[in-house]
Amino acid sequence: MAEEYAVSIENVVKRFGDFTAVNGVNLKIKKGEIFGLLGPNGAGKSTTISMLLGLLQPTSGRILINGVDMSGDPVKARTHIGVVTQETVVEPELTAEQNLMIFGKLYHIPRSELHNSIEFALELSDLVQFRKSYAGTFSGGMKRRLEVAKSLMHTPEIILLDEPTTGLDIQNRAQIWNLLRDINKKQGVTILMTTQYLEEADQLCDRIGIIDHGKLIALGTPDELRTNIGLTNVIEITADKEDLQKVAGIFRKIGLEPTILNSKVTAPGGSNATKKIESLLSAMSTAKINVRNVSMHEPTIDDVFLKLTGSEARDTSGEYKGRQLLSRR
Ligand SMILES: Nc1ncnc2c1ncn2[C@@H]1O[C@H](COP(=O)(O)OP(=O)(O)O)[C@@H](O)[C@H]1O
Ligand SMILES: [Mg+2]
Repeated sequence: MAEEYAVSIENVVKRFGDFTAVNGVNLKIKKGEIFGLLGPNGAGKSTTISMLLGLLQPTSGRILINGVDMSGDPVKARTHIGVVTQETVVEPELTAEQNLMIFGKLYHIPRSELHNSIEFALELSDLVQFRKSYAGTFSGGMKRRLEVAKSLMHTPEIILLDEPTTGLDIQNRAQIWNLLRDINKKQGVTILMTTQYLEEADQLCDRIGIIDHGKLIALGTPDELRTNIGLTNVIEITADKEDLQKVAGIFRKIGLEPTILNSKVTAPGGSNATKKIESLLSAMSTAKINVRNVSMHEPTIDDVFLKLTGSEARDTSGEYKGRQLLSRR
């Protein structure tokens, strides 16, 4: 009877001309989970989402939504899905309530249910007291909340969100996280979202798939990713920008595999990491390198990502900004 997977992506390839944007992705999203597809700009996240919505046809491979083949019966497949796209789609000239009303009519929500589903959406998004306010006056976070609530009005079992928190500040981001957790726990909605924020994937998602250059390069729970990748006791040394290459050289000399990131050099230290830190510090003192900070931590999703994708692309263009993955092209 019931299909076990909310979403099945089977050997999906998407080419644009001779450019391959999605390169043989296999992924099954379990019912009831919050799944995060994590990757930098240009990784193939939005292309994947568009295929899941039936807006783009895969070049090859197959997509099932709740067991329904997206290319076989797109209308039926889509009834299971709610969607929040990367662009804001609320109508600024309409009030929160009117925005929801229009959407409800678009989705043929019966008149008798429309009122209730608008109330539900307003409560869910915590916008009850703003029902008569024009969406154009809303903050980015409020608009996003309205969009999330709107995507749930036709009571889909799955929602797809493409970078729902990109561009939001920390506070608004946390509100969206709470909203998504709520929807997932209380309504049992399966959530498949894309993100380029490492901490978002780490804190919000039950499982993470890391996508890079159209390929899924890692899959697991945040804990699995951290432990299976063989990273332990990550050593981190902060120094002046002009010294970083030298510091990395010293890391290599004592058998560590360094990654340069912003003004830091990091490497998994393994079992006798403290000893290695001593060796590093003494070598750096000899080389007269100004060490600004030394620390050791358990691996984070950042470390996992760096280890998997290598540092090269990021080092040369300096594209890794904070904890957000930026474009690598
Ligand atoms: N319609 C298109 N035609 C040609 N190239 C495209 C098209 N859509 C996306 N791409 C390319 O495919 C790659 C993946 O894009 P996208 O899925 O939007 O990445 P992401 O959402 O992860 O940032 C990018 O290099 C992008 O330029
Ligand atoms: Mg995108």
